[in-house]
Order: sequence, then structure tokens, then C-alpha cells
Amino acid sequence: MRIAVLPGDGIGPEIVAQAVKVLEALNLNMQLDHAPIGGAGYEAAGDPLPAETLALAKQADAVLLGAVGDWKYDSLPRDMRPERGLLRIRKELNLFANLRPALLYPELASASTLKPEVVSGLDIMIVRELTGDIYFGQPRGISTLANGEREGINTMRYSESEIRRIAHIAFSIAMKRNKKVCSVDKANVLETTELWRQVMIEVAKEYPQVELSHMYVDNAAMQLIRQPKQFDVMVTGNIFGDILSDEASMLTGSIGMLPSASLDANNKGMYEPSHGSAPDIANQDIANPLATILSAAMMLRYTFADESNADRIENAVKKALAQGYRTADIFTDGCRKVKCSEMGDAVVAAL
Ligand code: IPM
Ligand code: MG
Repeated sequence: MRIAVLPGDGIGPEIVAQAVKVLEALNLNMQLDHAPIGGAGYEAAGDPLPAETLALAKQADAVLLGAVGDWKYDSLPRDMRPERGLLRIRKELNLFANLRPALLYPELASASTLKPEVVSGLDIMIVRELTGDIYFGQPRGISTLANGEREGINTMRYSESEIRRIAHIAFSIAMKRNKKVCSVDKANVLETTELWRQVMIEVAKEYPQVELSHMYVDNAAMQLIRQPKQFDVMVTGNIFGDILSDEASMLTGSIGMLPSASLDANNKGMYEPSHGSAPDIANQDIANPLATILSAAMMLRYTFADESNADRIENAVKKALAQGYRTADIFTDGCRKVKCSEMGDAVVAAL
């Protein structure tokens, strides 16, 4: 197993170190190669996705990523900003299927801002298309009109084949779960998503056991808070999925709990927490490493088809939570507040 490890910026290096610790404790035959990305890439090679980092990621079987971004890079030209490194590696590796599971660990029911009865038992899989939509559509940019006024343009765009392949991912995942797919769109206003809905309906015919429903994105945002347990698999485009997955994460107590997998057509994947680089708490050893540790479990499951070790990591996380270990973001009275590295140790001990 060749794994490219890209810690990135902010809390990235701290949380990735914990995931690496957990992986190493499994004693698997793994080769881990570290490389810079994001602001770290810019510092090292003047590029948020240095050529050597991309080459390493292409050769590897899987990529484990921390997070990118820091306010100090906000004034750089857009192409040099850390986020562009992340978007480029997703596109270069053709990682079109982003899986973001929002799962509530029973111990954390009281850490959520929602009532425990609303969230307990929650288990949603958000399937977000990751290489298309307004994130990548052309034309884009800021230009000056004839009257001297500036205008900003982005283009929401999806081809039929892009929609079709993410639909197949969502339906296949639903087949292994509760066989329900809710497709999120804005078909009442946006033609791009009207096509999205049509293609979802076509693909659904190949999965007669799966129940397909449709929801406008504004309603989906509301329903996620009102009655989140109505959802099994949610499938949506890049921008809606970006927003709804952050929202769903708060149902689980903290965005620090949400892992993700970004897969290509052959299950090669990049695994990263759904949260950002949190530069405000970087280098203090207080971030929650569980989303990254759980992303490493997803890596074993999806890229290496190693269910048993994926289960081992997930069970160790459950055990550490059951033992009362909590980082600051999920801390509630009566629990034991630990640092990022101590949480990593607790998971290793639980293994
Ligand atoms: C995410 C992040 C990224 C995105 C940013 C950092 C470019 O918010 O992975 O959800 O918008 O996709
Ligand atoms: Mg996001």
C-alpha cells in the first residue's frame, strides 16, 4: 500500500500525525510518503500543488490529506491560494465522488446543538459530486464592463455523463444501506439541476429496489435540521454538497467528527476530514483528530477493501469516546478533556 500523506496547513499536520500513528499501530505493509500541499506547497515550491506532490499522489494508491488554507495567503493571486491546490488535486486525480458520512456516535448526542431525540441514531451518507459544477465551470472571473463597473462570473455546468456517474455511486451505496436516495437540486430555478433531476430519474430505473426522492436545496437545508433521520443517502452537486455537508456535520456534535473519501472510477481515493485548516487553533495540540483518523478508516475500506482493519479503527474511536475522552470541540461536563495527541494515543490504546 503506497500512501501519499499531505498534511497541508493549519491544524493539518497535527491531525494527520494522529491518523498516521493509528495506521502505523496496525502494522500493515504500508509505505507513507509525505509532501507539501496548500500554503505549505506555496512556501516549499511556490505552488499550492507542487509538481512533485502531484506526481507522488498520482503514483500512490491513496492520498491522506489534512487541510489547506490560512488567512495569510488570502491576498495571493487566486491561482496561488491554498484552496486552489486542493481543487486542482481533486480534478487531476479525477476524484469525482465525495462521500461524507454524518454519523452520530451515541456518546456525543448531547454535544450536538440539536435535541438528542432529533439526532440520536443519525446515519446519513452525503454523496457530493466533486469535480464539476460552479466550482469548475467556464467562463469565470471578474471583469470590467464597458461602463466601468466590475462584474463577477461563475458558471454552473453539468454534463449528462458527470451526473450519471455520480448517480450510480449514490444508488450503489444506497443498495448497501437503507435503499433510499434523496437527490438535492434547485430544479425549480436552475436548468443545470433540472437536467440533474432528469438523469437521476433515468439512472434510478437500473436500481428498482432503491426509492428515489427529490428535494430542493433550500428545503433540504431546513429538513436536515428539522428531521434529519428521514435521510439515508443524499446525492447532490458540488456547491450544494459543500454547504449541506457542513450543516450535516453539526448534527453529529462537531465538524471535527466528519471524515470524507473522494474517489475516482477505480476506487483510488483521497481521504480527508470534511473540516478546514482552522488556523486560529493551529499548533496548540487542541484540534479534534477523529475526522482524520476516521478518514484513514475509510481509506482502508474503500481503496484497500480491508473491512476488518477499517472496523478496528472505527471501533477504537467508539471505545475512546465511550471511555470519556473528548477534545475541546466535543467536550461536555463529566468527560475527560484531552489534547489532539492524547486523543490519538487513546485511539491507539483502544486498538
Ligand atoms: C470542502 C472545503 C473546500 C470546498 C474548500 C477548502 C475549497 O470547503 O472540502 O468542503 O469548498 O470544497
Ligand atoms: Mg466545505
